[in-house]
Amino acid sequence: MKKYQYEIIAQNLESKIIDKMWIGGEKLPSIQKLTEQYKVSKNTVIHALRELEASRLIEARPKTGYFVTNLFEQKNPISPNSETLAPMAVNLSELFNDIMQRGAAFDILPHGSNTSPSNHINILNRYLNKAQRSHTQQKAMHYDSPLGSVDLRFQIKEHYRSVGLNITASDYCITAGCQNSLFLALMATCQPGDNVAIESPAFYGVLQLLEKLQLNVIEIASSTIDGFNPTELEKALQKWKIRACVVTPSFATPSGASMPAGHKKQLVEIANRFDMVLIEDDIYGDLHFTERAPPLKAFDSQDRVILCSSFSKSLSRDIRLGWIAGGRWHKKICDLKLVTQLAGNQSIQQGMHAFMAEGYYRRHLHFYRQVLKRQRDQLIVCLQTHWPDSIRFSIPAGGLAIWVQVDPHIDTAQLYQLALGLGIVLTPGALFSVSGYYKNFLRISFAHPTVGERERAIRKLPSLLWT
Ligand SMILES: Cc1ncc(COP(=O)(O)O)c(C=O)c1O
Repeated sequence: MKKYQYEIIAQNLESKIIDKMWIGGEKLPSIQKLTEQYKVSKNTVIHALRELEASRLIEARPKTGYFVTNLFEQKNPISPNSETLAPMAVNLSELFNDIMQRGAAFDILPHGSNTSPSNHINILNRYLNKAQRSHTQQKAMHYDSPLGSVDLRFQIKEHYRSVGLNITASDYCITAGCQNSLFLALMATCQPGDNVAIESPAFYGVLQLLEKLQLNVIEIASSTIDGFNPTELEKALQKWKIRACVVTPSFATPSGASMPAGHKKQLVEIANRFDMVLIEDDIYGDLHFTERAPPLKAFDSQDRVILCSSFSKSLSRDIRLGWIAGGRWHKKICDLKLVTQLAGNQSIQQGMHAFMAEGYYRRHLHFYRQVLKRQRDQLIVCLQTHWPDSIRFSIPAGGLAIWVQVDPHIDTAQLYQLALGLGIVLTPGALFSVSGYYKNFLRISFAHPTVGERERAIRKLPSLLWT
């Protein structure tokens, strides 16, 4: 469809606002200047500015000009879930499996991404292919060692050393992804019937593990800004025996919250006092838009934090490479890996090691964080301009998703099938808790740019949700 000139100018100004050419509160160039710059009539510029004003991207101040709205100010934080619930068994609905199988929980479109692969994925593939080609007959006839490639563990150790975690390469074990690491951690430390504390809302993969391992869940009231709340955990520990706690200290999904360093110290201190296992999910730790915070394990004084992570969110979900640093349960975890998986793929580990050793992972992260931050801003602008004023959402300083609270009467899980019929995959709030809170919540990912078909899908959603 052909675009009018005023629409092209409005779009161009919008991109510049997202790119922070002018920040919130800053004045746009005068109408006269924009007229000269775009070589159009004054009326066309005014028409474009009115469009942006209607989208709440800018505001007119009488006799002064147009100013960029402060879009990224947290005006309406999400209402916290303020109740910690008693231990309960986990019985999940079919919806969980359906979403997991669709593999699209990080894309609003059902048919996956049509974005071209980043340069780093091409380079990674070159390293993986090279490792595959040099795969010797001798390797093909032998299983990998239970801990996994020493070279790759060395690179992971170095990576963490730069963010304040000083453990050795032999303290890590390579796994088939973070979900696999979380499984090994829970298997090694808990017995059926044990209570496990998690943040609320929490990653649905952990709920699925608790269900399969017959562990009871205690959802701890958490903040959408500061994440897991150690004071709430301590109150729960005074009432119930809790064997382990699974927590995502950096950019937890779905809330995007991150724990301040003081809360991490407090959490470790409480775990020491109550002899509780701490299982840390650090999968989003490297996707920070400001500073990399040290992991919880960096505060561990009694070897009771089990660090779990993978390359799935930071680089590729497809290479299925993760790791676990099991502290005092390290040997038991390695034994469990051996009996459940036998061994990992040697050439993929070798290729990933070379990719890291030559600095590509570091460079990729540097670039990818900027891309993600821009995509986060695009999504925020889209929500601010096309969704009703009544919504509330998180503004995470990293990670991959925004947590959106819509009006209380809306049940996002009920609309899942309807949305699917329209070619939109919702990630309903109900997936992230067994409590029944979060019915009127959605997780929306910014793993892809909010442009084209994806932007149209997100713009279309309010008419579905508010019917
Ligand atoms: C918080 C969190 N932990 C773990 C996983 C699983 O990661 P992996 O693909 O490495 O198994 C995910 C995937 O969505 C996740 O969001």
